[in-house]
Amino acid sequence: MTLILENVHKAFGAVKAVNGFNLSVADGEFIALLGPSGCGKTTTLRIIAGLETLDEGRVVIAGKDVTELPPRDRDIAMVFQDYALYPHMSITDNIGYPLKVRGVSKADRDSRVAAVAGNLQIGNLLERRPSQLSGGQQQRVAVARAVVHHAQVFLFDEPLSNLDAKLRLEARAFLKHLQREVGITSIYVTHDQAEAMALADRIVVMQSGEIMQVGSPLEIYRRPANTFVASFIGNPPMNLLQCTVDTGQSIIQFAEELAIIRLPENSHNTIMNVKPHEQVTLGIRPEYISIRAEPSATTIPGKLYVIQNLGGEILVIARFGEQLLSIRMFQEETPELPEQVWLDLDFDHVFFYGANGQLLQ
Ligand SMILES: Nc1ncnc2c1ncn2[C@@H]1O[C@H](COP(=O)(O)OP(=O)(O)OP(=O)(O)O)[C@@H](O)[C@H]1O
Ligand SMILES: [Mg+2]
Repeated sequence: MTLILENVHKAFGAVKAVNGFNLSVADGEFIALLGPSGCGKTTTLRIIAGLETLDEGRVVIAGKDVTELPPRDRDIAMVFQDYALYPHMSITDNIGYPLKVRGVSKADRDSRVAAVAGNLQIGNLLERRPSQLSGGQQQRVAVARAVVHHAQVFLFDEPLSNLDAKLRLEARAFLKHLQREVGITSIYVTHDQAEAMALADRIVVMQSGEIMQVGSPLEIYRRPANTFVASFIGNPPMNLLQCTVDTGQSIIQFAEELAIIRLPENSHNTIMNVKPHEQVTLGIRPEYISIRAEPSATTIPGKLYVIQNLGGEILVIARFGEQLLSIRMFQEETPELPEQVWLDLDFDHVFFYGANGQLLQ
């Protein structure tokens, strides 16, 4: 089902939890809401579910304005951050509850519960009560309960946060597979960017109740629309360097006179929208910096700080003035590097952000 959030505002006292949120979700689309703690992710989900009233705006599901409808009339399945299982019921009855209230027969219920529980690796726990499960197991029960009945919209609030790395990957794969198979519109809250990248058709990056960028995982990774997204997405995130650009002479001067570099001939389009001598931020991902033994027109000086071998890729951290820059090298062997290194910036992959933090291209 399509889902539209139109100019949604919600404040708690002075806190603007959701501030002018606009989003149009296509039928069957998987959307991840990604952002730091307190940015309004849970509040946005609760608004969609009808658990929170709006100060302003509309919620439209399948073309119907549901802003005034109570939660039970919205046909939405939600996994809460704190699972909210029924303590007096067995796991079977917990998972089967949404089917029971819809009048599905016991035999049908039991087979559907068994199938989804098997997928989430909790099939052996069905006789227990929630208090007899670990946090991660309870979380999977909550996911199973949400997906056993195919609602119009799935809402997930950090549903895998309590699982260890391996279970998390498996549960993630199951959710993605399920969503592909049944094609239910889903909104998935996480502050794990790898999870958002892996699951979502589009990611909505939020900060302080506002949308910073909406796009496919690759769009957001490749072309962050502002310095907030640039510094939030990527592990480690994009390197951001203060500088001024002399567009006439194609020279970039870094803050505190740390370095001056000359733009290569073929990369002039990267500075097209930079005003002469405007203070800007240069952004470059760690994989687009190379380490050289000798300086050149496009290198800046760095002091080796630490080398981390992550297995298959090497992360080099170097000091540039007061700042630490990340450089990613795709190789297995830890390189031998001198203390003084030269960092070569690939200007095909450089972005400039203006004083307001917005991308200048
Ligand atoms: N019932 C409430 N009363 C007062 N303030 C609230 C209430 N619910 C949320 N807030 C505030 O609104 C803001 C957004 O909260 P929300 O729970 O939506 O954040 P979140 O993005 O889900 O964070 P987290 O990642 O920590 O779960 C926060 O500043 C929070 O303190
Ligand atoms: Mg939350």
